[in-house]
Amino acid sequence: MESDKILAVRNAKTIYRSKDTVVKLFNDDYSKADILNEALNQARVEETGLNVPSLLEVAKIDGKWALISQYIPGKTLARLMEENPQRWDEYLDLFISLQLQVLGKKAPLLNKLRDKMNRKISEADLDATIKYDLHTRLEGMRRGTKVCHGDFNPSNIIIREGDGVPFIIDWSHATQGNGAADAARTYLLFCLDGQTDKAEEYLQRFCKADEISPKYVQQWLPIVAASQSVKARPGERELLMKWVNVVDYE
Ligand SMILES: Nc1ncnc2c1ncn2[C@@H]1O[C@H](COP(=O)(O)OP(=O)(O)OP(=O)(O)O)[C@@H](O)[C@H]1O
Ligand SMILES: [Mg+2]
Repeated sequence: MESDKILAVRNAKTIYRSKDTVVKLFNDDYSKADILNEALNQARVEETGLNVPSLLEVAKIDGKWALISQYIPGKTLARLMEENPQRWDEYLDLFISLQLQVLGKKAPLLNKLRDKMNRKISEADLDATIKYDLHTRLEGMRRGTKVCHGDFNPSNIIIREGDGVPFIIDWSHATQGNGAADAARTYLLFCLDGQTDKAEEYLQRFCKADEISPKYVQQWLPIVAASQSVKARPGERELLMKWVNVVDYE
């Protein structure tokens, strides 16, 4: 790995650059099915015509599963937001327009958001009555067939150096479903990152751009928070429980 550059180290995986590719290398305990699902999601999303790094190989490196994709030279939108806070407004508009671009796509073979949410609610460490309410709430939500990224946040957008073309990465959580759920997830991600004001501004602007009411997005918060609680990092759970327990946005 001499000439290779580590881009990110997570609990169960390491992402590094190798020449003009990016290698996402998973630890042994990572579910093989989840890795192959991420590869399949990325391949399906490539077919929609969105700007995503192309998946080049599913491989084994020193006995570990790896996804190898095209390297996009540039900076993440998260980094640009940090470096140029005065341009936050402009970046937020770009961020929202990219999310709406994703939501404007169809990929009928992607997993269904509703199935994933039902599964996560079942897995969540919550009282049976709360789970029952969440399943019922989910049942009442409109099904959708939009491509939902599932982890749409500024660190998953790379602005390519040279021409400024935005690429959307990290399709491990992608599904098809109701776009408001995807916006609710993004809202929560800003909050979990300690950026509550930015979360509110995002929500207002997303809803304006998509011509929907913020209430419509907020109705998804208990469901999305419950699903997020399944793999919550220490410290996140308490915050998520606040949203799980807010039951009457309507
Ligand atoms: N194709 C790529 N080209 C350039 N950089 C990349 C590429 N893929 C990933 N990176 C860099 O590596 C980082 C982590 O990659 P990615 O988001 O796919 O992993 P992750 O483990 O899902 O991270 P997280 O779950 O925290 O979002 C990105 O934020 C980006 O800086
Ligand atoms: Mg990421």
